[in-house]
Amino acid sequence: MTYPPGPTSTIAKLAQTRAFFRGPLREMEKMHARHGKAASLSIFGERVLFLFDPELIGEVLVDRGGAFVKDNVTHSLSYLLGEGLLTSELPKWRRQRRLIAPSLNRRHIASYGDSMVSAARRYVDTLVDGEVRDVHADMTAVTLEIVTETLFGAAFSGAEEIGAKMDVVMHNFERVVRSWRRLVPEWVPLKPRRQIAEAGAVIEAKVRGIIRERQESGCDGDDLLSRLLAARDESGEGMDEDQIYDEALTLFVAGHETTANALTFGLKLIAEHPEVDLKLKREVDAALGGRPAKAADLPQLPYTEAVFKEVLRLYPPAYLIGRESTAEVELGPFTVPKGTTVLISPWVLHRDRASFDDPMAFAPERWLDGRTEGVSRYAYMPFGGGPRICVGNHFAMMEGILTLATFVQHVRLERTSREELPLQFAVTARPARPLRMRVVRRTTLADAPSASH
Ligand code: HEM
Repeated sequence: MTYPPGPTSTIAKLAQTRAFFRGPLREMEKMHARHGKAASLSIFGERVLFLFDPELIGEVLVDRGGAFVKDNVTHSLSYLLGEGLLTSELPKWRRQRRLIAPSLNRRHIASYGDSMVSAARRYVDTLVDGEVRDVHADMTAVTLEIVTETLFGAAFSGAEEIGAKMDVVMHNFERVVRSWRRLVPEWVPLKPRRQIAEAGAVIEAKVRGIIRERQESGCDGDDLLSRLLAARDESGEGMDEDQIYDEALTLFVAGHETTANALTFGLKLIAEHPEVDLKLKREVDAALGGRPAKAADLPQLPYTEAVFKEVLRLYPPAYLIGRESTAEVELGPFTVPKGTTVLISPWVLHRDRASFDDPMAFAPERWLDGRTEGVSRYAYMPFGGGPRICVGNHFAMMEGILTLATFVQHVRLERTSREELPLQFAVTARPARPLRMRVVRRTTLADAPSASH
């Protein structure tokens, strides 16, 4: 029986666990450099396997997917999200996915394009030439508006309150899962758990309130909540209130911070690459001629799409995808015992020169000039892969493209410092500090910086 290599002595295991929690990306890159396709580590007694090989990853997510469930960190999110799509398992997950996926397919989400563009435009309109903004905080506010409007309708008030409570929940969730606290049984009321419960109760009251209101007023609207309420399975059954609540909250949580982080990283990269900014502006001006973007414009924005794909390559917000084996599994040359946590890092995969030439370069053209055509299906996976691929992936791509297009029409953002942005690897990868950028308002191509700068 072959098991992937890793540290053997207790001291070496502890040292590597500490290094992993302090800087997961750096540590995983080291493991990949040292051991190749796969490496192992025991984290607080839990057997963890890191996979760096696209073929083996495809086996875990698809071919041998039946032998894996989500990992225990994802499952512990059910403390907040109940049994929504993100945290549930078969057979429940399959029914839920069939009920929800149609509402998030390309055709259905086209009507959300206008909400995305209006939210981006409302934000752009607040920007004053020369002022310095915290772009991460701003993007969090913009994506919060987008997710609440598309999920609960334009009339919903309370997005900010839910957003603030959600911050409390996520912050405390981190404190539990990234420390010794994760070893303490769930019934022990540790302070972070109490804070999660208190903030969670406020969110629950608010969201259940709107679900009931909608049920009473009849659910013929166009927002996602109305579609969840109207969804029926093959036997004509819909979801009960608890299930609707879990799914609405899941979409809210999964669809908000990830896109905020991606847009933040995108604006940083565009500011650092004036030639990309210039090309973007040219494409957007040619496609839109100054009018607001719409979902129907997406085919005319291939470069903007390539930019967003490249942002998700270099800075995938979901930097770790976890599974746990429910049986002993043969994976290539390795035998993986039952109960092993398998971690897959899109971040490490996307920066691997075995798949991408000049992997650290921000080069959107690679998505248009054929260079990425031979890349393995599981070497680029910002949205995961297999049956549990992100159900919001089309939504997120549309949101990213339309929002970036709206920004470049009206403003350019400049970095105020040359320092590398420190990152925090929490549930998602995000800036560890505010990202301050200076606003330059523009109206014509002449306002874009010269590509030769
Ligand atoms: C750039 C933005 C986004 C990124 C990078 C992202 C990434 C991911 C990834 C990697 C997964 C798979 C996790 C796994 O296999 O364990 C996932 C699942 C999921 N995502 Fe996203 N996501 C994004 C935006 C969204 C949006 C906008 C929504 C909702 C509107 C959403 C809803 C979900 C849900 C519900 C799941 C669970 C799907 C299932 O298991 O059936 N995500 N996401």
